[in-house]
This record gives sequence, C-alpha cells and structure tokens, in this order.
Amino acid sequence: MEWRFPKGFAWSCATSAYQVEGACDEKGQSVWDVFTHRPGNVIDGSNGDVACDSYHHLEEDVQLIAAIGVSHYRFSVAWSRVLPNGTINDVNEAGVRYYRQLCEKLVENNIEPVITLYHWDYPYELEKRGGWLHPDAIQWFCDYARLCFDKFGDLVKTWITFNEIWMCAWTGTVTTAGLSDQSADKASRERCARAIPYLVGHQMLLSHGRAYRIYENEFREKQKGQVGITMSAKWREPASDSPDDIRAAQDGLCWQLDWIAHPIFSTCGGYPKRMRDRLNDLSINEQRANKDSILPEFTDEECNVVRGSADFMGLNYYISYKTRHLTEEEKNSEELGWLFRDADYCDTVDPSWEKISGEKSWLHNTPWTLPKILCYIRNKYNNPKVLITENGCADHPEEVVLEDNARIKYCEDHLKALHKAITKDGCNVLGYTLWSLLDNFEWTNGYTMKFGMYHVDFNDPDLRRTPKKSVSWYADVIRNNGL
Ligand code: BG6
Repeated sequence: MEWRFPKGFAWSCATSAYQVEGACDEKGQSVWDVFTHRPGNVIDGSNGDVACDSYHHLEEDVQLIAAIGVSHYRFSVAWSRVLPNGTINDVNEAGVRYYRQLCEKLVENNIEPVITLYHWDYPYELEKRGGWLHPDAIQWFCDYARLCFDKFGDLVKTWITFNEIWMCAWTGTVTTAGLSDQSADKASRERCARAIPYLVGHQMLLSHGRAYRIYENEFREKQKGQVGITMSAKWREPASDSPDDIRAAQDGLCWQLDWIAHPIFSTCGGYPKRMRDRLNDLSINEQRANKDSILPEFTDEECNVVRGSADFMGLNYYISYKTRHLTEEEKNSEELGWLFRDADYCDTVDPSWEKISGEKSWLHNTPWTLPKILCYIRNKYNNPKVLITENGCADHPEEVVLEDNARIKYCEDHLKALHKAITKDGCNVLGYTLWSLLDNFEWTNGYTMKFGMYHVDFNDPDLRRTPKKSVSWYADVIRNNGL
C-alpha cells in the first residue's frame, strides 16, 4: 500500500531560537537565559548559551535544510534578539539582519520561512516588570509582532504567533518564574499560583488576537500571508469505562486544547462552557460568587477580536495519555498542580504502549490517536485548516547515533495515521513538520534528549553537523510526496 499525500502538501522541519541559536551575548536576556543559569534547573546543568550556534552557522544550516528538500522551514524569532529590552524603544539591527538573511537564504533555496513569534523565550527585562501579567504586556507583544511583520513580512507567508500557550501559561509560569520561592506568605502564594496560568493564558490569547488584527489591517493586503497559532495537542483516552474517567478524559482535552482553541476557533468565541461552568462551581463551593471565578472574562470587544483570529491551527503532536479522575486525597494534595485539581483529571500512560527514546523519556508511540485528535478538532471547530507544526521523537540513548531507526519508525507510523485522517476522515491538514532539524537544547532536559535529523557534535568547537539516516529517509518521503 502507498501513502501519498494531497498535491501541494507542505513538508517542513523545525527549530526554535533558544534551542539552537546560541550567541547569547549578542542579544538581550530571555527568561531561559536566566533560568538555565540557576543551578539545578536543567538536568545536565547545561544551557543555550552556545547551543548549535545557529546564529553563526546560517549559510551552513540553510544548506542542511535544503538537502532534505523541505518546502517549508519553521523557526522562531528570539524577541530579545530583535528587541533586547523587549520594547520597541531599542531595536537591535544586527538581530533583525540575521533573521532577514535567514529568510532570504531560505527563499533563494525555494524554502518558505514559517516564523513563530513566541517560542517561550520571553525577554527578561519585561519579565522583571511583571511579564505577561503587566497591563502593557499585550501592547509589548503587539509592538514586537508589528516589527516582525514589517521587517520580514515581504519574505514570510506563514506566521505562528504562539507556540503552545498551554505549556507556557501553565508549566511556564509556575515553574519558570520560580514563583514558589518568592513569597513567604504561603496563603497568598497559593492563591496566585492557582490563578496565574488562567491570567497569563488570557493575556496571551488577547496578544494573539490583537497581533492577528494588526496583520489583517496593516499587512495582509500587501504581504498576502496567513497567521495561525500552535496548540499543545495530546489526545486523552479514558483510563476505564467509568463515567468519572470518561468525564476526566474530556476535561483533559478541554483544559489543554479547548481552553486556547475555543476562544479562537469556535463560532461563539470565549472560553469553553465546560471550563467556565466548572470554575464557577468551584467558586461557589469555595464561598465565592460566580463572578469571582479565577477564569477571566473577555469583554464583547475582546471576544470578537480573538474569535476567528487564525487562518490555520498549528498542532504539536507527540503523544497521548490514559486519563483518569482524581481521588479525594489527590484533589486535596499539593503534589498535583492546581490546574489538574481544578479540572479533576490526571494523565497516565498505558504500560503496554511502545516506549521510545529510552525508559525515562516522556515519549511513547501511539500514532493511532493522531486521527482521533484531528477528528475531534474537525468536529468541534468546523474542520479548520491544520498544520502539524511538530512531530518527532528523541533518539534512544542506546541507539547508534547516526542510525536513527526509531525516529524513522515513529515518523512513518505517524505519517500513515495522518494520511488516514486526511484521506478517510476528511481532516483538513495541509502540512507536516518534523521536529527537529538539529539535535538541540531540549529545555529542562538539556542536551540529554536528541531530537535532530542532524547529529550535532557538542564537543567539537565547530559544532559539526552530520546527517543521521532520517535525513535521506525524509528526503525520499518528500520526493515521493508520501510513503
Ligand atoms: C516543542 C519544543 O515546542 O515541544 C520541543 O520546543 C519539545 O523541544 C516539544 O520536544 C515538547 O512537546 P510538549 O508538548 O511536551 O511541549
């Protein structure tokens, strides 16, 4: 059997700024620059100071991308590289030049740049002023977005505002900001910790919506591009047939995907009713009035700005979970984050699922759930255009470095599943992006997890890149427009 994709299907690979660029002293600091330099935050004590040094390997990296034959390349702009203090008052022309050159080289090689504006590396100068909770946070993002549209938009036809709001609003704010060490007043600390993800998510949604409208009003006519947003997308199977577990799996999807997708992609806009009702009920149980729900409200104007503010939905798809409800004890335990306690669910992994990338990794191979989440989106949001903006896995720690058979198998399995979702289920998926181009800095896992199609020798002063087997495999897939 053959798995050929529709004509014009986009084939891409991806990186993000902090994970590959290095050259940290040629830009303003981001929260990740600061966080990685605090002892104990990254498994191997490493950081992205140099990473793959892509900032100084521009020509070479474009050649590596071109050798794969992709039609698109997804990368992110480091906000603090173009605006070192985060605000529009100080533009770093060298940073702007770097991204322009990268776009130009890609276009020369017939590769369309896909820019993510925000892939977690928030400018530290803004963080010190309150970050996403500051009243000017939306304006700061809009200024930055406008600058990027203006400087790079003649070369870029596809924009992604945010990478995984769920991840940065939830784990990002609670762990990265080191919130839990900051307050001696435990009671108010808890209240803050609970509400912050909802507030940050709200600010990010508004930033996304307003940036979309800026593009629509000021740039679209001339540049003719599209603007979307990338979601964390993990499918949830109920852990059992019990009504409580079935409900928990639905809440897991709602709290991660619909929280962000519903305000943008639903016809009515605003937060999902399920989430609003739950948080209202909790307010009542906790002797607060409904209006004191920790889930913020959109005004009518805001709701309209955010509703319909995406030309496509980006999906980062890696794994799924078996989801169960919480026990009474868990609901009252501080071990589990508030978000999970509010939503009353807990994610587990079926021991029978094929583990990949080593025993300790969070990855497993469940490709059959990809069509499930795509159908869920199709049904719920009127079959929007979808781009898979990430899919891939890390090398098994014992795998011979360049023979990355596990990656090839994982991606092949997912492409077959994706093919089914498109051809049998009618899901409107326009492209696939393999994460990642290069081995790179994998956040708190440092350099212990290697997601690249190209091996990077981090001990070599030149950071030599060598293709793994997946490079020629992916090149074949692209040449054949499928398997
Ligand atoms: C990406 C990261 O956006 O998400 C990758 O930049 C990472 O490095 C992946 O592997 C992790 O997925 P998730 O859904 O756990 O955030």
